[in-house]
Amino acid sequence: MLDEKYYRPAVHFTPPYGWLNDPNGLVYHQGEYHLFYQYHPFSSKWGPMHWGHAISTDLLHWNHHPIALVPDELGTCFSGTAVSDPNNTSGLFDGASNGLLAFYTIAASERQLGHPYTQSQGLAYSSDAGRTWKKYANNPVVPNTSKVDFRDPKVFWYEQGQYWVMLVTEGQSVAIYRSHNAMDWQYCSSFGAEHGAHDERAWECPDLFEMKVENSEESRWILIVGVQRKAYAPGSGSQYFIGHFDGERFINENTPETVLWLDYGRDFYATQTWSDIPEKDGRRLAISWMSNWLYANHTPTESWRSAMSIPHELYLRQSGQGLRLHHAFIRELKSLETQIEGLPAGSYAANSLLCQLYPRSPEILSMKLKPEINTSVLIEPVDGTTLYLETDEQEMMLRCVRQARSWNLEFDQHYPHDYKISLGDIREIDLQILIDQGSIEVLLDQGLYSVTNLAFPESETTDVTVKVMQGVVSLTRGEWQKLHAV
Ligand code: FRU
Repeated sequence: MLDEKYYRPAVHFTPPYGWLNDPNGLVYHQGEYHLFYQYHPFSSKWGPMHWGHAISTDLLHWNHHPIALVPDELGTCFSGTAVSDPNNTSGLFDGASNGLLAFYTIAASERQLGHPYTQSQGLAYSSDAGRTWKKYANNPVVPNTSKVDFRDPKVFWYEQGQYWVMLVTEGQSVAIYRSHNAMDWQYCSSFGAEHGAHDERAWECPDLFEMKVENSEESRWILIVGVQRKAYAPGSGSQYFIGHFDGERFINENTPETVLWLDYGRDFYATQTWSDIPEKDGRRLAISWMSNWLYANHTPTESWRSAMSIPHELYLRQSGQGLRLHHAFIRELKSLETQIEGLPAGSYAANSLLCQLYPRSPEILSMKLKPEINTSVLIEPVDGTTLYLETDEQEMMLRCVRQARSWNLEFDQHYPHDYKISLGDIREIDLQILIDQGSIEVLLDQGLYSVTNLAFPESETTDVTVKVMQGVVSLTRGEWQKLHAV
């Protein structure tokens, strides 16, 4: 195991010290992107939750700001959202149009309340572009007297109805509320009990937004929700639903059994998207916590723990399987590019190397590959964390392997893995791999598949190897793009 400095990412957001989990309160306001996050400043393990805060103008260079929300006599501050209130619907801003509202879960203890319904929704507000926050005097705005799990409010302005909508997970479903003043909330409906993936734990961190279907006049509503233990890859992950929203109800347009995964890796959880991105930009920008509750508290760093994923742009596009979300790394990453090198196109037989690079991370490796049937290509971006692109007569697959070495078994037995993702009956595939200290993020097939995994190397000098293990593969296009640290 290396010193923790080798695991501090170069282009990803990390807390200066202490523990980080979910992204919270993502909002674009007056030219600035805000990133709040679940934060425990007094230890690098999860504990009484605060909202940490950082601001950026390009989603890559982040300035740390003072902690925004701290626990009080009502409880600690779990996940939630922030939104602009330009029309002062809340009346909290003295007629000013630049107010920000934040909704968070007040998590009390059973001892404080004398009953197990400890989670309720609170409101905080800021009149100085998010620099300082006050909690609303009459919290909670959505009380709770019946649900053990009731958390992670996502709030947005529903333009068509001219009111606010709040989503909150309640056990294994999502409750939808509405309000005109962001303080008095009326329950409308619940979605999910019979839809999608479930496990023995509560759903978490919902998000709901409308998206244009690419190259069409149509739009759909996308509902994202976190599954704690039985996501596609073992442990935590996010699923999504595609459908319609009538201002009170979400209607899934797929069958209830359909399960759509937002990412197929083990370290892409609690996904949220930025609110209030200006219409002329129009992007749907998402970020996720790059860890997994199965081992999050034990990853091999000491003074700080956990990073955010690189922000993704999401697209809603027709694929061979129907409408699906597709991902791209944000285009701002281009601005970090220092050098590009081409990889020699051609046909490669068993035992030949497509490339062996000696990088100082971070970098992006992009390839378009055409494997023959019964081919296996090893891609090892970080020692000990390997991807195999495999084909048989029926399909192409990606096998993801994190080796069970003694030191990583020591930090957590759940960390190693070996699982497969079916990429369908295709003959050619493009992939992009973003390699940074501590992680590899892979986008395949024009972003139809996103695979995000932590990757802690064992040695200081790690190379990127792509080698044909079996069969023959054509490299149609290959490129290695170096990035500088932020
Ligand atoms: C998801 C989650 C949320 C909760 C927060 C607590 O990772 O469990 O449901 O609000 O983390 O830190």
